[in-house]
Amino acid sequence: MTRPVGFFDSGIGGTCILEAFRRLCPDEETIYIADTAHCPYGNRSPDEIIRLSEACVRRLLRRHCKMIVVACNTATAAAIDTLRARHPRIPFIGIEPALKPAALRSRTGVVGVLATAGTFNGRLYNETKARFARNVTVLATVADEFVTIVERAVIPGRLAVDPARLNTPAVERVVRTKIEPLLRAGADRIVLGCTHFPHLRPVIESVCAGHAEVIDPAEAVARQARRVLQAKGL
Ligand code: DGL
Repeated sequence: MTRPVGFFDSGIGGTCILEAFRRLCPDEETIYIADTAHCPYGNRSPDEIIRLSEACVRRLLRRHCKMIVVACNTATAAAIDTLRARHPRIPFIGIEPALKPAALRSRTGVVGVLATAGTFNGRLYNETKARFARNVTVLATVADEFVTIVERAVIPGRLAVDPARLNTPAVERVVRTKIEPLLRAGADRIVLGCTHFPHLRPVIESVCAGHAEVIDPAEAVARQARRVLQAKGL
């Protein structure tokens, strides 16, 4: 029997990791849970996120998943330690804001991070910041509005967004409100610290053009998932 690789997120966000993984490992079977009944996760308490994540994991394990990708920064921050402790035989891959490469590459010494409150409150983010971003100014910006915008653009019944609903002047205005203050403060790297945000990448990049590089760890997470599958002979 071929066992699938499971992915979950509060909604459509994590499909950017799913797609990157499918490009790298086209022969793997995958199952994706978009927990839209409980989206957004961003403002929920860690206990709630653990409970919701555990429910997603149980559904994926009932489908015999051999590895689980927590395709959500917020769920990784709140729940991955607990999930690993509760399911020691299953490898879990998580995602956290790519603060380290951003800090290393920044020339201005100012880095902007867009994420949910849950991610900014998590241990992982704060440890990474203390270890790798001590010498840069990190501007942390909660951008929950982006999650709502992306979820509204989901094509009913499909695991995809309608780009026409994202490339609008109204969406660009919201994106500018969040990103322009970071650029004015000198940020030359903008980290997408929520898996919903890469869906807005064309708009974000047009706002950042000539000022800042946009950094998204989805590809790196997909490569890590492939490495772990290979290392464990899965
Ligand atoms: N896509 C999620 C993340 O990476 C969560 C967004 C939300 O539900 O608030 O953080």
